[in-house]
Amino acid sequence: MTEQKATNITWHAGHVTREERQALTKNKPCCLWLTGLSACGKSTIAVALEQVLIKRGHVAYVLDGDNIRHGLNKNLGFSPEDRTENIRRIGEVAKLFVDAGAIVITSFISPYKDDRNKARAVLQPGEFIEVFVDASVEVCAKRDPKGLYEKALRGEIKNFTGVSPDAPYEAPDKPEIHLASDNMSVEQCVETLLNYLAEKGHLLS
Ligand code: ADX
Repeated sequence: MTEQKATNITWHAGHVTREERQALTKNKPCCLWLTGLSACGKSTIAVALEQVLIKRGHVAYVLDGDNIRHGLNKNLGFSPEDRTENIRRIGEVAKLFVDAGAIVITSFISPYKDDRNKARAVLQPGEFIEVFVDASVEVCAKRDPKGLYEKALRGEIKNFTGVSPDAPYEAPDKPEIHLASDNMSVEQCVETLLNYLAEKGHLLS
């Protein structure tokens, strides 16, 4: 648990209801939490889904690991503690976006079960949708779009997820959605996510 440092602070509620926001966004907000190895397809699927949702008139927004590490989380590296803090902050940011009415799509390796479960706990039941983007280390290392697996295998990157023994990836036991991204096209993955959102009543038009 991250300790509350500030004292003498009071929660201040707004006047806008969830229903009023939903009338504008045409969606019931939620967070699709994509988790999986580097190069498993998370970011590609995330931006493709975002584009479809926006074209259909919903409010969707991607939070992406590489991007967030350029700004909000630029002071964090890849030690277990820093990854935990990375995911804690993103869980809180996702909550704000959900509160604002968006369908948030997060794209972070988020390798630790405990961190993902804590992010889930920050949201209301049904709002956190864990999506396991499942491609093996071998497949990801073959793709290697950023050349990072090659570097990691040469020992030039420490703590590289799935390669370094000290940087394991803990796969979800019961994700809401499992995408076998080594056998599925991006379009099939996006379709699966859209179907889930429609089934669960997140798309209101
Ligand atoms: S997480 O583990 O804290 O969730 P995050 O998703 O933010 O990671 O960032 C992962 C991205 O950072 C990878 O896709 C890759 O581009 C880059 N990266 C750089 N160093 C590492 C590393 N040691 N392990 C994993 N990814 C790394």
